[in-house]
Amino acid sequence: MKRSMQAAGEEVLSLLQKKRRTFLSTKEISEKLRVHPYVVYQAIKELRRWDFEISSEKGKGYRLLKSPDLILPGEVKRKLSTKIMGKEVLSYRSLGSTNQLGFRLAEAGAREGALILADEQTRGRGRMGRDWYSPPGMGLWISLILRPNIPPFKAPGLSICAGLALAQTIKRLTRLDARIKWPNDCLINGLKVGGILLELSAELDRTNFVIAGVGVNVNHLPRDFPKKLSARATSIRIEWGKEVSRVRLLTSFLQRFESLYLDFKKKGLSPQRQLIKKFSFLLGKKVAVKFGREKIEGLARDIDDYGSLVIRTPRGEKVVRAGEVTVL
Ligand code: BTN
Repeated sequence: MKRSMQAAGEEVLSLLQKKRRTFLSTKEISEKLRVHPYVVYQAIKELRRWDFEISSEKGKGYRLLKSPDLILPGEVKRKLSTKIMGKEVLSYRSLGSTNQLGFRLAEAGAREGALILADEQTRGRGRMGRDWYSPPGMGLWISLILRPNIPPFKAPGLSICAGLALAQTIKRLTRLDARIKWPNDCLINGLKVGGILLELSAELDRTNFVIAGVGVNVNHLPRDFPKKLSARATSIRIEWGKEVSRVRLLTSFLQRFESLYLDFKKKGLSPQRQLIKKFSFLLGKKVAVKFGREKIEGLARDIDDYGSLVIRTPRGEKVVRAGEVTVL
């Protein structure tokens, strides 16, 4: 069911969190927040729907007993010091796909940097028409609406920026050796921990908007992955051995991605080339790239200014713009 967390709900929550040992009456809450008592009643109802355990006693009021591990928009906004990304946050308990909703909102004029996040996706989308497994309570499933003034052929560079931002963020928070696997995967110890799905609305020479979808397996345990994924996928928690705060991961990622994005809009990928190479999983490895019916084998040598993979083959250098890579 689609439902966005209400601002009033978060304000009431913040009061209840401050006074966990005592009860707060409707009157006290409504006076503190300067809202009608009915708003308090609705907010408590909303919080309970989000699985907050709140006890109520006649004559005493409400007391917070237990909070679910949720990424709350207010908390995200408070912790962010970005200029555009996450200035508007739409948070859902369960959604088909954040990219799908992002696309609709962007078509309707949503502003650049708007962030759509879901605790669970029931139809998470991956690249090449695949599904993206997005269970509740353990991942980061987000989409950002971007409106870069770039021709569509430059857009793959954005996917590299997002991948780099993710790998750098994971490395900074955990010291793990997170890598970017061209074009859109983030790996730890050779296993997939995250993926980027860029979806574009564009004409031949101009991009109307881009939806940058980012999925990260954060706090999954091995048993949380379905069998078909368990040999290839991992989570930060599995690799690090500790739980990760999803809010911290999200805000650090947004901070880093925004800085790379603003730089990319002005100067393209070239200022980040060295960093991209440093974080690349593929460079220097023998690879096979499949795109459509074609297959190229050779040595992954470089990522160029447009985010394409440069491969040295026996027949010379080939530049690949998109595809599916296997390390040989
Ligand atoms: C891939 O590696 O195939 C890309 C996966 C991208 C998944 C994210 S999760 C948030 C956003 N919404 C979606 O439906 N997909 C992306």
